[in-house]
Amino acid sequence: MTGAKRVGIGVIGFGWMGQAHSRGCRRAPSYFPERNYEPELVVVSDTVEDRRDEALRSFGFASAVADWRHVVDNRDVDTVFVTAPNMLHVELVEAAAANGKHVFCEKPVGGTPTQTVAADVAARRAGVISGVGYNYRWAPLVQYAKQLVDGGAIGDVTNYYGRFFSMYGSDPLGLLSWRFLVDQAGHGVSTDILSHTVDLAHFLVGDAAGPITRVVATGETFIRRRPLPTGAGTHYDRGRADDPVGDVTNEDYIGAMCVFASGARGTFEACRSMVGPESQNALEVYGTHGSIRWNFERMNELEVYIAGDHAHTGFTTVYGGDRFPHHGNFVPGSANAIGFEDLVCIEDHEFLTSVAAGRAHVPGFAEAVDYVSVQDAVLRSWDSGKWEDVRSLREDDAWTP
Ligand SMILES: NC(=O)c1ccc[n+]([C@@H]2O[C@H](COP(=O)([O-])OP(=O)(O)OC[C@H]3O[C@@H](n4cnc5c(N)ncnc54)[C@H](O)[C@@H]3O)[C@@H](O)[C@H]2O)c1
Repeated sequence: MTGAKRVGIGVIGFGWMGQAHSRGCRRAPSYFPERNYEPELVVVSDTVEDRRDEALRSFGFASAVADWRHVVDNRDVDTVFVTAPNMLHVELVEAAAANGKHVFCEKPVGGTPTQTVAADVAARRAGVISGVGYNYRWAPLVQYAKQLVDGGAIGDVTNYYGRFFSMYGSDPLGLLSWRFLVDQAGHGVSTDILSHTVDLAHFLVGDAAGPITRVVATGETFIRRRPLPTGAGTHYDRGRADDPVGDVTNEDYIGAMCVFASGARGTFEACRSMVGPESQNALEVYGTHGSIRWNFERMNELEVYIAGDHAHTGFTTVYGGDRFPHHGNFVPGSANAIGFEDLVCIEDHEFLTSVAAGRAHVPGFAEAVDYVSVQDAVLRSWDSGKWEDVRSLREDDAWTP
């Protein structure tokens, strides 16, 4: 591997996703020998001392700091991964971009549509490459599903159903972590997990059915008070029944019906307080000749129905395998499964490839803005109780890095 570009990496926020991306960048070289980059874990920032210690001891970072400014100021850092709570994203992105660092920011990039637009403008004005953590796009069978849709295998798309039902907030004793607070997370599931669901629709049927043009939506907060955390509790940690409690200040549920430019109809739902579906990021695409179903809980399976064979009707289960994009980089053969962090590793590989090549990356902040354009209409509709038009919040399409 000659001529690979060294990419110095800084990470801000060393919780779940900060650690996942650090592992992703660190192990990508062993899965992708033909890469054009050579990653180096330079510096990580977290306000929690134990996490900084662990970054040094187990992840191989050269240094760990409490103040994130030492990440964006570090001359050995080319690319900053922003993996802190949502309402910190914009300040971190703006500071990194102003210092000429390329920026990968976890979805949704900020906690509100306005913040996502500000982050996009900051990256474009600074001329840096941006990436956003819509990792489910990179599932090999989702990539294959897009090939099927684009190749006309299911005909014209008529209906789309996307849902992200998670149990992370289903226990009333689940801690009041930053995700449940509007001042730290921004909106609730419309910012957190509906973003993945709608982004998958943009990815899969955006070319075939065009953008979402109209929505009607509703939302609800089902569990209104939760135990207060002590220390670095996450949304997966539990309190006790006699703990002091605080108010949940963003939504548990969002549901929306929509119209695509082509006339296709869609339904989207996201909920964090249901009991049953544990991490059901699922989609169904229906066309005039067939249909496709995928559910992250069984991410190594794709269900495909193609009309025509009148003797053998029904969905066929296609198992993941090395004939689908990137799967073979991890395991050979068929039905040998890959997992969540492998998607993050693929995502990091793709972003570092774009950085080393000096080219715009997709999905970047422009695609993040495409989602919040829909979210903006969803929130307006929840408020008005009426159908609302989707207005693109992209401010400038002319920029290229
Ligand atoms: N793409 C995905 O599948 C996915 C999954 C989970 C989370 N996320 C996103 O990743 C981001 C982080 O979520 P998470 O689940 O990893 O959260 P987390 O709570 O596990 O981690 C956040 C970390 O940020 C640290 N932090 C807080 N303030 C800081 C500051 N001022 N400076 C430095 N560090 C600070 C915290 O101590 C914590 O370690 C969010 O934007 C979330 O939406 C994406």
